[in-house]
Amino acid sequence: MAIQRIAVLTSGGDAPGMNAALRAVVRYAIYHGVEVVGVRRGYAGLIAGDFVQMHLTSVSGILHLGGTILKSSRCEEFKTSEGRQRAIVHLDRGQVDALIVIGGNGTTTGAADLSEMWDKPVMGVPSTIDNDLYGTDYTIGFDTAVNTALEAIDRLRDTAASHDRLLFVEVMGRDAGFIALLTGLAGGAEGILIPEISGDLDGLCETLVAGRRRGKQSSIVVVAEGNETGGAFAVAEQVKKRVGLDYRVCVLGHVQRGGSPTAVDRLRASRYAAWAVQALLDGERGKVAGEVKGEPTLTPLREACSRKKDVDMSLYALARILSS
Ligand code: F6P
Repeated sequence: MAIQRIAVLTSGGDAPGMNAALRAVVRYAIYHGVEVVGVRRGYAGLIAGDFVQMHLTSVSGILHLGGTILKSSRCEEFKTSEGRQRAIVHLDRGQVDALIVIGGNGTTTGAADLSEMWDKPVMGVPSTIDNDLYGTDYTIGFDTAVNTALEAIDRLRDTAASHDRLLFVEVMGRDAGFIALLTGLAGGAEGILIPEISGDLDGLCETLVAGRRRGKQSSIVVVAEGNETGGAFAVAEQVKKRVGLDYRVCVLGHVQRGGSPTAVDRLRASRYAAWAVQALLDGERGKVAGEVKGEPTLTPLREACSRKKDVDMSLYALARILSS
């Protein structure tokens, strides 16, 4: 059956570039003669039937905006089959032929669950600052978050150097160290702690003490919030206990989620979203549209949310060499 009407939503943690992805879904679909309805507040709005008709002008002037004009949510009810059943009633009542979800891991899990219950196609557009979705090298929002965190680290470097201080910077990444690894390498951090590497506290202490002995007067350690010791404050206390270095901590938090998307994120958003619509028109279903080594990919929803994406360990090794 030809697709005449697509619904689109943004869900989970907002990410810079979600609006660019929405714009691309709406305009690419309309260009191909397909109607688009927006779902407000992610899966919560899907369960409530909170739909809005999207036109070419509905997505005017949003390409450069952070956040998401459709709003987002984390929805516990959608994790239940009763919740998803309620959503299906609204999708069918609204004569929706396919659904596109823009979001990260939780969103993709929800999409995989829904597509096992609904007879119509569901497609994913990968968007999370964490970059932890399997099957795509990048997710929308990651590049902006890295640049935001890097700017903060550069500023913190000034103050750390002025006071000869040890500074711990906590970046987001609940289960993944992609933001910490890239900002740590790009910011010349003396230490990087990520969830993918355990037992690294001893190594960190050794590096910091050795640096002091060589005359290094200030240091920056980037800590992914999901590291095994439990965030930057916990790591800093451990380091103080072991080697007696005084410290300051800066938790960047949600500042990393906001702001105007970089050119890289706008381009990724535009391409991934258009690929998702095109894949639907080509008869695909149940996939996430992303890229691997610059080439478009379609990864099954379940695989994308259940398999672990590896961080590039060579970058970690390089960061250690370069920061000595
Ligand atoms: O969406 C990813 C993320 O930003 C994680 O890095 C972070 O742990 C989490 O969301 C925070 O979620 P919330 O905004 O719901 O507190």
